[in-house]
Amino acid sequence: MTNLLFQPLELPNGTVLKNRFVKPAMSEVMGDAQFRPTEALNHLYQRWAAGGSGLLITGNVMVDATALGEKGNVVIEDDRDLPRLRNWAAAGSRNGAQTWVQLNHPGRQSPKHLSAQPVAPSAVPLTGDNAFAFNPPRALTVAEIHAIVQRFATAAAVVQAAGFGGVEIHAAHGYLLSQFLSPLANVRTDQYGGALANRMRVIEEVYHAIRAKVGPAFPIGLKINSADFRDGGFSEADSLQVIHRMADLGVDLIEVSGGNYENTMVQGSNRGGAFFIDYAAKAKRGLTTPILLTGGFRSLDGMTRAVANGETDLVGLARASALIPDLPHRAAIGQFDAIDLTRLSTGIRALDRRVGSYIGLSYYEMQMARLAQGKAVRVTRNAWIPLGYALRTQGPSFLTPRRA
Ligand SMILES: Cc1cc2nc3c(=O)[nH]c(=O)nc-3n(C[C@H](O)[C@H](O)[C@H](O)COP(=O)(O)O)c2cc1C
Repeated sequence: MTNLLFQPLELPNGTVLKNRFVKPAMSEVMGDAQFRPTEALNHLYQRWAAGGSGLLITGNVMVDATALGEKGNVVIEDDRDLPRLRNWAAAGSRNGAQTWVQLNHPGRQSPKHLSAQPVAPSAVPLTGDNAFAFNPPRALTVAEIHAIVQRFATAAAVVQAAGFGGVEIHAAHGYLLSQFLSPLANVRTDQYGGALANRMRVIEEVYHAIRAKVGPAFPIGLKINSADFRDGGFSEADSLQVIHRMADLGVDLIEVSGGNYENTMVQGSNRGGAFFIDYAAKAKRGLTTPILLTGGFRSLDGMTRAVANGETDLVGLARASALIPDLPHRAAIGQFDAIDLTRLSTGIRALDRRVGSYIGLSYYEMQMARLAQGKAVRVTRNAWIPLGYALRTQGPSFLTPRRA
């Protein structure tokens, strides 16, 4: 049965992924001070490509240097960094792997130390425990929305010129495009707000603008939340409609995820299996566009069953890939069964509650940095190790929430 995971998948446009293992986007925070990709990224992607995944999706690459999600983001505004991007693409194309670049704009989820006043669909501030870290946004004008749409298209054209295999539009996790989808974050009364057809308009425009630049053969993926899990927010029914509409338009791959800074479902818990599997199964009904399900996969058996049962076509392994970069290869030779993704602990419960999500991020960032340096990962349950790492590499600003 495991063999299923090693079967190639042909996307509707003819692109073939060599197997069903995907390393989804994990922000590597390895861009330099000019937001350029670095050698570290080349090493990391070379390592992941050698590890056997069919598809690697980069951590979010921003389309506007004045709208960052975090320090260390790579930004693509034009082709000035093409030589460096070529090296990154080449590293991620070894061993039959493909690397796609995830394109993102954070909208209101650009933290205070990076944005005095972020932009968003509407001037609606974040709520919840992480809200303190973000300045209230101002609403985008229609002209600014059009300019952002063009930024996505420009970045995608550069990605293609650099030799990457595709792009993924990030419309999940509460970033700008996901904010447009949410009736709570988007209270516009123009053509970009109100009915779902209006709230998703910007995503359609981003897709069309990219497609016009890259042509029919270049894969365009979409990462979308199954729901935001907030009353009155982006619902599962909305999400299913968006998926079907985008599939009709010609999106090549749909990645299913969930949550945002107001409701951090993204990293889920260690108790159940894949977090959004029921939704993925629903999404697959009547859809020929392949689905990539990300979040919570831990056992080979769980992954195999999800594909065998037709609940997903591809399995996304983010944290697992940071801990076991050659997981597909190990699975192929019978040396991988399951991974334990238990959360780390400082030993102080109140502190764990307060800094739990930063610990998680720092832990995986630390592993990616180690992989890039050619070192082995450092598996531990002791949260003080990644906390120390974050303090050394980022100073106290690491305590600013950066992503869900
Ligand atoms: C350190 C870290 C960085 C992440 N960065 C991104 C990102 O840039 N874009 C994105 O769509 N998801 C990002 N995610 C979320 C993952 O893609 C994935 O949805 C999540 O970790 C759940 O999958 P898993 O259970 O396999 O880890 C990140 C996750 C981690 C742990």
